[in-house]
Amino acid sequence: MRTLRWHKLEIEIPRDEEFIVPVAVAGKKLCLIRHEGKLYLTQRSCPHAGGQLSGGWCKKGMLICPLHRYGYNLENGRGAEGQGDYIDIYPLRIDSDGLYAGIKENLFKRFFGR
Ligand code: FES
Repeated sequence: MRTLRWHKLEIEIPRDEEFIVPVAVAGKKLCLIRHEGKLYLTQRSCPHAGGQLSGGWCKKGMLICPLHRYGYNLENGRGAEGQGDYIDIYPLRIDSDGLYAGIKENLFKRFFGR
């Protein structure tokens, strides 16, 4: 069973209109992205061949990997047509004291450490 747990992002959110910054949350290496006025949190490693998506760019709602230019939909993580892959997208919550990332946690692992 997996449950969603909220983790505060310990970073200053850039003021830039568009950005991609690497962040670490709950032991995961992720990307915090602002694109077309909206914040997104995605996995950092590209599923194609491990490129660092934090070095990529966004275009028309897609996150583009800098290595071979595969694209991933920022809303649902789906790879562009013909790729047949996807990235994980994590929920974000804005609270009065900052930004929180929702990370699914395996309850068995949480209680028994495995
Ligand atoms: S490693 Fe990302 S497109 Fe190839």
